[in-house]
Amino acid sequence: MAEQDVQADRVENMMPAALAPLPPELMTGHPQLDAEHHLLMTCIANLRRVCVNHAGSLHCGHCDGLRRQHCDSHLVGMLGDLLAFILEHFRTEEEIMRSSLLLMVDRAVCEAHMEDHAAISGKVQEIVAALDPMNTVSLIRELDALLTRWMGNHIALHDMLLARWVLREDSVLRRNTLSSS
Ligand SMILES: [Fe+2]
Ligand SMILES: [Fe+2]
Repeated sequence: MAEQDVQADRVENMMPAALAPLPPELMTGHPQLDAEHHLLMTCIANLRRVCVNHAGSLHCGHCDGLRRQHCDSHLVGMLGDLLAFILEHFRTEEEIMRSSLLLMVDRAVCEAHMEDHAAISGKVQEIVAALDPMNTVSLIRELDALLTRWMGNHIALHDMLLARWVLREDSVLRRNTLSSS
């Protein structure tokens, strides 16, 4: 099964939903990166649906035990797949940095990009470690804010630079990308 299909299956397992739209300003033009970012956008939309009042509740004390149990197990299931998806996506981008030779040409740019990946996945791991049935709603809010910020800032800055490098006129990878799509 192709890597992209495996990633799509992971998102599907988190909770079936229509693909959430990817804003035009976050389209990099790189087919694989855009497809994976699209799936991530869908993860964020799915995450928001775990709690009916994720924006308004301070904690889970307002819900009964059964509801809390349901939200907690739902979130635990989603987080495992989400973390695997994010780590795989970062590995893909870092492999593109190497294969496109950007890592050799501009190591500082790539290191800043990889440091941001490490910071994001570290933060998601912290959230996973803090899972607590009484606190599901604030963890959802925290994760939602982190992923939304990532979509807005990280893609617009780091991923866009990487895609521009790969898709530039004289890139060998560009020809390969276009001929395989
Ligand atoms: Fe990235
Ligand atoms: Fe990305």
